[in-house]
Amino acid sequence: MVCLGNICRSPLAEGIAKNLIAMRNLPWDVDSAGTIDWHEGNSPDARSIACARKFGIDISGQISRKIRKTDLIEYDIILAMDAQNFQDVQSMDGELARDKLYMIMNFLHPGRNLPVPDPYYGGEDDFDQVAAMLEDACNAMLDHLEARKLS
Ligand code: 4NP
Repeated sequence: MVCLGNICRSPLAEGIAKNLIAMRNLPWDVDSAGTIDWHEGNSPDARSIACARKFGIDISGQISRKIRKTDLIEYDIILAMDAQNFQDVQSMDGELARDKLYMIMNFLHPGRNLPVPDPYYGGEDDFDQVAAMLEDACNAMLDHLEARKLS
């Protein structure tokens, strides 16, 4: 799960995806990272932690980090929150990104390249909206991956 700072959207995406994966009894690992290192070593934004808690999910132990090229090798699927994140990951290694990089909302709305909007300058409602979008997108993604039997 990749966003800009790895403190708002992708930590929520990681927590939500892990929760859904556990509910489906799948053996899949999820991590998150940012395309910038400004928040490296920090916990998720307090508003993301509070938002996840409403879903019964604890993301307070996550630590922000910047995406590494090895992530593109180790992970089967790289999910970008918006078009800028997508471009930034693609520019790390176009070859590696080709088969595994997706805009996460495309699992719900194929081909539309819709962003998960950045809630950093927003309020509680914006975080709630992001979480609802991510839950729907993650469920659609897991339906898709289970059908592909990627495990
Ligand atoms: P995120 O949100 O990419 O969803 O983690 C942001 C976090 C930090 C900043 C912008 C967006 N920032 O400008 O520091």
